[in-house]
Amino acid sequence: MDKLDIKLWTLAAKGQIVPDRSLLKTEEQIRAIKKSADLNTAVLDHVAAHIRAGMSTAEIDRLVYDFTVAHGGIPAPLNYEGFPKSVCTSVNDVICHGIPDENEILQEGDIINVDVSTILDGYYSDASRMFTIGNISDRAKKLVQVTRECVELGLKAAKPWGHLGDIAWAINSHARKHGYSVVEEIGGHGIGLEFHEEPFVSYVTPKGSEMVLVPGMMFTIEPMINEGTPEFFIDEDNGWTVYTEDGGLSAQVEYMVLVTENGVEVLTK
Ligand code: MF3
Ligand code: CO
Repeated sequence: MDKLDIKLWTLAAKGQIVPDRSLLKTEEQIRAIKKSADLNTAVLDHVAAHIRAGMSTAEIDRLVYDFTVAHGGIPAPLNYEGFPKSVCTSVNDVICHGIPDENEILQEGDIINVDVSTILDGYYSDASRMFTIGNISDRAKKLVQVTRECVELGLKAAKPWGHLGDIAWAINSHARKHGYSVVEEIGGHGIGLEFHEEPFVSYVTPKGSEMVLVPGMMFTIEPMINEGTPEFFIDEDNGWTVYTEDGGLSAQVEYMVLVTENGVEVLTK
């Protein structure tokens, strides 16, 4: 047992949830995952430069596929558990896992989450942004703004040797302050060596609860914020697309982060 093992074992003995050592990335893995994350950010920048009214979400899928492959990467969603496209595009009342479609044309006033995940040299990265199409309603603008603030506040609350619940609490409090709700059953995840690793990252848990944030951990901060109720349903035909039950708008922003000795570093956003 080294010093870290003893520290983790001591915390576990006190009833804390601690990560398995396999979830703590080595220096070498961190270097490789950062390259994947840099490509992931470049893909999102590429989407940002081209997204516009009149474009189909299938065109966004082609932008992501072509750019990723041209830079030596593989879009992680493609064929992941049967997902048919290279990116998730979630418009208006779609909470997440929207499937790009030739017949879905972006209209002035839409809000859309584009969730990009990349495999480079076998290492995984993942982030998503909200885009607004032309002039949007004040109501939509506020939801997108508050969602961005939620993720920034969650990031600020994340500290080495703190807890995942600190992040959730910061996010959930801010959302509720604005009358919004946070989706409970779908959350973030560990990432790096796989697309989805332990732990599950909830955004509705109390401060001081859940897993201890140990240097070397990597995970996503990606709350889904609804203007109405948090309930949802999944498209029965495609088995993926998640819609708000009440038809209200939903927004999501995703950062992928690394816990270090001194703080929490954003790898892609
Ligand atoms: N990028 C999503 C996440 O943040 C995962 C999407 S799974 C897919 O966890 F198959 F839909 F791509
Ligand atoms: Co994602």
